[in-house]
Amino acid sequence: MSDLSIDTSNLTKNFGSFTAVSNLTLSFRGTKCVGFLGPNGAGKTTTLKMLTGMVHPSSGSARINGIDVQAEKKQALYPCGVLIESPEIYPALTPREALSYIAELHGIPASETPGRIRSVLDQVRMTDWVDKRTGKFSKGMKQRVNIAASLMSDPDILILDEPSTGLDPRGMAEVRTIILELKKQQKLIFMSSHLLGEVADFCDEVAMIDQGRLLIYDTIESVVQRVSGQGAAVEIDLASSDLTGVQEKIQTIPGVDRVEHVDARTFLIRFSGGLPMQQRLLEQLVAAHIGIISYKPSSGMARLEDAYLNLIKGGY
Ligand SMILES: Nc1ncnc2c1ncn2[C@@H]1O[C@H](COP(=O)(O)OP(=O)(O)OP(=O)(O)O)[C@@H](O)[C@H]1O
Ligand SMILES: [Mg+2]
Repeated sequence: MSDLSIDTSNLTKNFGSFTAVSNLTLSFRGTKCVGFLGPNGAGKTTTLKMLTGMVHPSSGSARINGIDVQAEKKQALYPCGVLIESPEIYPALTPREALSYIAELHGIPASETPGRIRSVLDQVRMTDWVDKRTGKFSKGMKQRVNIAASLMSDPDILILDEPSTGLDPRGMAEVRTIILELKKQQKLIFMSSHLLGEVADFCDEVAMIDQGRLLIYDTIESVVQRVSGQGAAVEIDLASSDLTGVQEKIQTIPGVDRVEHVDARTFLIRFSGGLPMQQRLLEQLVAAHIGIISYKPSSGMARLEDAYLNLIKGGY
């Protein structure tokens, strides 16, 4: 499935004199998860709608697996599962009924429909609810049915607009687990989100936009390295509060940029050189016999948040 691709070329959408998306050129290849970040009104949903033929671009084009979405919408979207602005499921319908309707829309043969419904409800852990009316479901359960609907055609490409927004922490965690499972199935996932934690946790790459313009598209690690004002850091705790000479000792380790005191027995060590350096740093700290009792890398989310805020200045 490594021939999967999503491309946009100078994709632009004007609403009257207002430009919501401006000359957006992006290209994703292969199986991976790309996070789509940007403040409210940045143009994420509009971009995803153009990618999925729900909105016509003012200029530019979108292609899925090389097929132009505007020119050959049905064929282009054939490999895609789409979840944009979570539709309200008619409350009197059960998941089985709602998904049967989706199956019909996709032209899935009637003989295959029950098996597909079982499979997608299993993936979103809703098997026990197949014949219950969705009107009584929690927001999280409804969203899981929406995700199941996007999976009915067994898509290789998933285009998701804020799949866990509006859910409580448990609902968010459930949706995250589902997407992580989907990621393991060799799909190309393009997903907008405001949750930097979820993007840092399972996206391989990130595209950030603001005011309709692409700010950066790269791997999360590169975005953080290129943009974060802080760079990578680890926090260490030491057994003893006698810290004579310790700060200097750490400072001399090659790759260490700065050593800061956090409290009596805790230091924050800022370093460059990515994961290889993080590994060397731990080895060197142990070899330095400074009485290290814990070693905690700064979270991916904190570093991505730092990069995001640096890039999207004035957006708040
Ligand atoms: N149909 C429309 N008519 C006029 N303006 C629109 C329309 N759809 C979107 N916009 C405007 O385009 C801009 C981008 O909207 P969009 O929904 O794509 O942003 P977003 O990045 O998805 O934001 P959010 O994070 O809040 O979901 C906004 O200023 C929005 O008001
Ligand atoms: Mg949106």
